[in-house]
Amino acid sequence: MRGLYDATAVCDNCDPMKPPVLITKRVYPEAVELLRPHAEVEYCDSDDGLTAAELAARVRGKQAVVSQLTDKFSAAVIESLDCVRVIANVAVGFDNIDVPAATRKGILVTNTPDVLTDTTADLAFALMLAAARRIVEGHRFVHSGQWTKWRIDLLVGHDVHHGTLGIFGMGRIGQAVARRAAGFSMRILYHDARRAPEALERELGLEYAAPDELLRQSDFVSLHVPLTPATRHMIGAAQLRLMKPTAVLVNTSRGPVVDEAALAEALERGTIGGAGLDVFEHEPQVHPTLLKLENVVLAPHIGSASVDTRRKMCLMAAENALAALQGRRPPNLLNPEAWKDR
Ligand code: DGY
Repeated sequence: MRGLYDATAVCDNCDPMKPPVLITKRVYPEAVELLRPHAEVEYCDSDDGLTAAELAARVRGKQAVVSQLTDKFSAAVIESLDCVRVIANVAVGFDNIDVPAATRKGILVTNTPDVLTDTTADLAFALMLAAARRIVEGHRFVHSGQWTKWRIDLLVGHDVHHGTLGIFGMGRIGQAVARRAAGFSMRILYHDARRAPEALERELGLEYAAPDELLRQSDFVSLHVPLTPATRHMIGAAQLRLMKPTAVLVNTSRGPVVDEAALAEALERGTIGGAGLDVFEHEPQVHPTLLKLENVVLAPHIGSASVDTRRKMCLMAAENALAALQGRRPPNLLNPEAWKDR
C-alpha cells in the first residue's frame, strides 16, 4: 500500500512532463483543452460512460482521472489502481468514490462545490413551485388540447408563499434554498446533524427542528444532505406518514436518500400531496408508479444543469487534477489527510 500522496512520485512508465490522464466521459471542451498542454489525455468523448471493466482497463497507468458521478470507485476498485494520484470528480457529491479507501492509498479526491449552489437551489425551488402549482399537469392539459373553458377550480394547487418549508441539510445548497424561501415569506424549519451558527439562523430566519417535528409541520420538505450510510433511506414509509397529506417532498440531493418504493406508495395513496424529484434510487430507472402519477414532477438529475454551471464544474475538475499533477494542493481537496505538505 502506498502512503500519503507524494507529488514527486511517478510511475515507472510515465513521462513526468506529460502525465497520463483519463477523462471517463464527455465534458465541456474547455476542460480537455486545459489539460492537453500539460498531460497525455485519454478522453472518452461519449455520454455512455465506462463499464466497471472498461474503467479498470482504461485507468491502468493513468496518474489522474476526471470522473463523473456514474463512475464507481469502490474500495476494491481503488485498491486495484496502479498509478492514480488524484480522482477529480465533476460533481459536488462524491458518494461514487470511497474517499477513506483513497486516503489510505494516498490518492487525492476532489469535487466541484460552490459553482453549482445557486443553480441547484433554483431547481429545488422550481420543482417545489411546479408540484405545488401543478404546472406540468397544466402544460399537458393545454398541450393536449383539453383546455376548452376557464373554470373556477381548474388545476387548483397550494400556495408556496407563506407556507412552511422544512429543509434537511443546512449546507451551501440548503442555505441557498432558505434564501429563496425568504423571498416567498415562508417559515423555515431545518434539521442538520450539526446545528447552524446562531448568526446564520438569525440571518436566514431559520428554526432548528427535530426531524419528526420538521416533517409534521412542513408544507414542503426539501432534501439537501449528502448520501452517506446515515442518510440512505432517511425518508421512508415512517417519515412519509408523519407528513401532511398536502405536503410536497422535493429531492435534488441523491436518490437513495429516499426509499423510492415507499414514496411511490405514499403518493399513490395520498399520504402526502406531491413530490418534485430530480434524483432517483436507481438512475436512470424510475419507479414505475412514479411514472404514472399526476402529483409528481420528475426531472433527469439536472440540478446543476445550466450551461455556465456545468462548464464551470468541468473546468474546476480539470484544474483540480492539474494542480495535483503539478504538485500543487488542489483547490477542492476532499481528503486533506492524504496531502503531504512539502
Ligand atoms: C452533483 O454535483 O453532485 C450533482 O448531483 C451533479 O451535478
